[in-house]
Amino acid sequence: MTTDAPPPVWDPLHPEFRSDPYPWYEALRTADPVHRIDDYSVVLTRHDDVLRTLRGPEFARDIEQHAAAPINDLVMERRRQRSEERSKSILNLDPPDHTRLRKLVTQAFTPKAVDQLRHATEQMVDDAIDRAAGRGGMEVIDELAFPVPFQVISAMLDMPTDRADELRDWSQLLTATLEPTTTLEDLDRADVAINELIPYLFEIIEQRRHNLGNDVVSALLTAESEGDRLDMAELMSFVVLLYVAGHETTVNLIGNGLLALLEHPDQLELWRNDPALDASAVDELLRFNGPVQNTVRVPLEPVTYTGIDGEPIVVDPGSIVTTCLGAANRDPALFDKPNELRLDRPNAQRHLALASGIHYCLGASLARMEASVALTRLIRRFDRIELVGTPTWRDRYTIRGVDYLEIEFN
Ligand code: HEM
Repeated sequence: MTTDAPPPVWDPLHPEFRSDPYPWYEALRTADPVHRIDDYSVVLTRHDDVLRTLRGPEFARDIEQHAAAPINDLVMERRRQRSEERSKSILNLDPPDHTRLRKLVTQAFTPKAVDQLRHATEQMVDDAIDRAAGRGGMEVIDELAFPVPFQVISAMLDMPTDRADELRDWSQLLTATLEPTTTLEDLDRADVAINELIPYLFEIIEQRRHNLGNDVVSALLTAESEGDRLDMAELMSFVVLLYVAGHETTVNLIGNGLLALLEHPDQLELWRNDPALDASAVDELLRFNGPVQNTVRVPLEPVTYTGIDGEPIVVDPGSIVTTCLGAANRDPALFDKPNELRLDRPNAQRHLALASGIHYCLGASLARMEASVALTRLIRRFDRIELVGTPTWRDRYTIRGVDYLEIEFN
């Protein structure tokens, strides 16, 4: 990284932006917080603009349907075509369809439902640590951060765990399409993944239909609200989303979170000695370096933001508005000394790492519980935990995560 401040531009292809977007966010927020990329796209970096956009009923999430992308945008054309061919996931739906689906699936993810998984999660974490303890170290992503959320989501859905490697690969191909730099080749690869994943899940779901159990798939098969049910296509999209969300994001919360702690040993020590922080420390880790850096909305009517000199900036309906969650989470207007990690930060839970409004992360309680269990069991098991070598980051922007993190402990 250079020591000079970067220019106030949004450049997710730039290697320095990809390796550390925070100085770039700061430059934008300071000089051009409502940054126009072109006539139909803007990028927001202030907390209050991002919050308002995520919460506003005047914004849609269904980009394919509402974005006014120019005729020569081949990637957008292809996205539209794909979205017409299959059922959209809850993440991409707007009300009233979103409201209907969310009502049907909320039950399985309430804090109470998640709390029932805590004990099993502790066991999974302890098993993962036990397997490495004799070696005096582990590669955290492959040995802890991936297997634990994967086993938890598989247990919730009562899915077999024998194809973990393939599922992990498919998830990564699917989440590559969330990047602002998505290419036609990325979309092709995601289609290959989805064409393998769907028959695999279809078979399991069909068997489950005749053999209902105490799992989330069974609950979804029978879920009913006001006489309404999920159809097979909706159920499939939802299970795919759970898999992907369960695989990628929580993995990164554990990986990014542990790295942040190792780089701030005073904070690691603070948490290790203070169980009162167990419920809240994860929010500061989410704020500090969250696994999801941005999401998008499309205004359905003209929307006015305020520029750096108080000037009105009108964004047309159909524009793509990129909300930088990671930038909002470091906004000094809300967070004192935002670039410092402080696990006892009083307002950390106002971060937007899990979004806000109607699409607020459905798995929020689950992700918090998993990360808190994984990190506290690890840091309280060993007196000394240290980094070995240099961690590496996956070359992605939207889904931000360490992909190699080796530690030693005793
Ligand atoms: C630290 C881990 C996680 C992070 C940072 C995260 C982040 C997010 C964000 C930012 C959104 C909203 C996107 C938008 O508004 O455009 C979202 C939605 C969602 N998340 Fe998560 N997520 C995490 C873990 C999980 C887990 C473990 C699950 C479930 C197993 C999950 C399931 C979902 C679902 C179903 C939605 C769509 C909700 C809706 O559209 O109503 N997430 N997540």
